[in-house]
Amino acid sequence: MSKIALFGASGTIGSRVRREALDRGHQVTAVVRDPRKITEEHPALTVVTGEVLDAASVAAVAEGHDVVVSAVGGGDGPGHQATIKPAAEVLVEGLRSLGTDAPRLIAVGGAGSLRTPDGAQVWDADGLPEFVLQIMHAHGDALDFYRTVGDVRWTCLSPAAQIEPGERTGRYRTAVDDLIVGADGQSRISAEDYAVALVDEIEDPRHVGERFTVGD
Ligand SMILES: NC(=O)c1ccc[n+]([C@@H]2O[C@H](COP(=O)([O-])OP(=O)(O)OC[C@H]3O[C@@H](n4cnc5c(N)ncnc54)[C@H](OP(=O)(O)O)[C@@H]3O)[C@@H](O)[C@H]2O)c1
Repeated sequence: MSKIALFGASGTIGSRVRREALDRGHQVTAVVRDPRKITEEHPALTVVTGEVLDAASVAAVAEGHDVVVSAVGGGDGPGHQATIKPAAEVLVEGLRSLGTDAPRLIAVGGAGSLRTPDGAQVWDADGLPEFVLQIMHAHGDALDFYRTVGDVRWTCLSPAAQIEPGERTGRYRTAVDDLIVGADGQSRISAEDYAVALVDEIEDPRHVGERFTVGD
């Protein structure tokens, strides 16, 4: 059983991680800005108020946990990208302040920087809306930052190009920097199977200090 502090626990991806972790017997501290957003009651779930852009808040909620998961960001519209790289920097700052007892960090990343079968990157595709490009590059910048960090045990998990609520099959494929594409040419993962992969990484760490990606 791991003690997990989960930022973004009320979000689309974060709520699937919350469900998967609780169903697998982990203890979850859901860190939210507005606790009214989580009405679920579960003996292994605690809801606390926290702010991912405040290092003292990160340190306070992270202390005593085995892992901090960040599924923050959110919304499809403009402005979303503003949280992503600052959150990465502040999460690392907050965890660093806990010294050698700091939990490891698993951050939900983006697909934009993944390599496509033709050797380009997802964000090189024609016709992407400007705000989508900004979100993709914000995740790319956050990943570049994580890659400079050697004193906090971080992992970044990039979804496939498409991630939506769907079915939990428990089946997925992983890669390190290459976009996972199905036989039909689509790159996708359900949010439920993404959560399975993330909780698998908590239980069996294989990607400390690197990014990996998951697809169906
Ligand atoms: N294919 C892809 O690359 C792909 C696709 C989808 C999503 N993503 C990434 O996955 C992440 C999660 O996406 P999502 O769709 O699950 O988002 P979402 O449903 O909008 O949820 C975002 C979560 O972040 C929390 N949050 C935002 N700012 C915060 C702050 N300053 N402090 C604490 N919590 C904060 C929100 O909490 P509140 O309830 O307090 O607002 C919410 O729980 C994002 O970074 C997104 O870019 C990547």
